[in-house]
Amino acid sequence: MSRLSVKHLLGTDELNSSDLGTIFEMADHFKEVINRPIKKVPTLRDTTIANVFFENSTRTRISFELAEKRLSADTVNFSASASSLKKGETLLDTINNILAMKVDMLVIRHSSPGACHFLSRKIDATIINAGDGTHEHPTQALLDCYSILKEKGRIKGLKVAIIGDILHSRVALSNIFALQKLGAEIMVSGPNTLIPRHIEMLGVKKEVNVQAALEWADVANILRIQLERQKSRAFPSLREYSLYYGINKKMIDSLNKEILIMHPGPINRGVEIDSDVADSNRSIILDQVENGVAIRMAVLYLLAPTLQNN
Ligand code: CP
Repeated sequence: MSRLSVKHLLGTDELNSSDLGTIFEMADHFKEVINRPIKKVPTLRDTTIANVFFENSTRTRISFELAEKRLSADTVNFSASASSLKKGETLLDTINNILAMKVDMLVIRHSSPGACHFLSRKIDATIINAGDGTHEHPTQALLDCYSILKEKGRIKGLKVAIIGDILHSRVALSNIFALQKLGAEIMVSGPNTLIPRHIEMLGVKKEVNVQAALEWADVANILRIQLERQKSRAFPSLREYSLYYGINKKMIDSLNKEILIMHPGPINRGVEIDSDVADSNRSIILDQVENGVAIRMAVLYLLAPTLQNN
């Protein structure tokens, strides 16, 4: 039996509020562990984990690797650019060959939405989705929710504005599912061309005026413009985007309240967020990164097949 209601972590859509509480409780424990002089526990010493990244990553990849090392797991890393994919091997063949070497868990990032769901129907090993195209990025949402909880002491009743390129963002969707289960109100904001049609059907508010969204919100999670995923330009130029939708100090200073500033990274300074907002004392961007290691340790521990009967 899994300690969560799921065998894999494919998305926050599939988690229930009890799962979220269990993950945050374990993250509290592991946050204490990684702040000790000796940051390592032997918990996963019998577990082998492959980090299989078909897309670029800095934070997620290093964070998972550190989480695995802190738990004493054996780890291997796969990069698509240096693999036999270049010679025509399929995704499923690649994964089955990795698993033949007695790997217990897979952390997978892929550009295709649904890649992790597809693999979960074909293989036995436990899968953690580290971002599948524009679909979900569950551990990012978990670390975002956990960071809000640590800063504000609660999530229920908070107003969270997700601002920027919602259309191409897996972070937005995973945050919407997780935050709603925790009782937050959510607003998405940005140019109409970067907000999915009918998004209100998910139970979120929509506001194209980012200043109005900031005035409404307790927390602003600002997202990167994902030019690499845009098939056609959603706005005339980055300069114009920055002028009308970028978050700057003047906008934040005009608010008659404290607001928490978040960003999942990577940041495009001067486009969706100015440096004097990203680096201000209202920003918890680096706390999010720090909390990511504890959250990923919690997820790995709670899903590890080698621990399920203990
Ligand atoms: N937030 C995030 O997923 O960053 P990376 O793409 O660097 O992993």
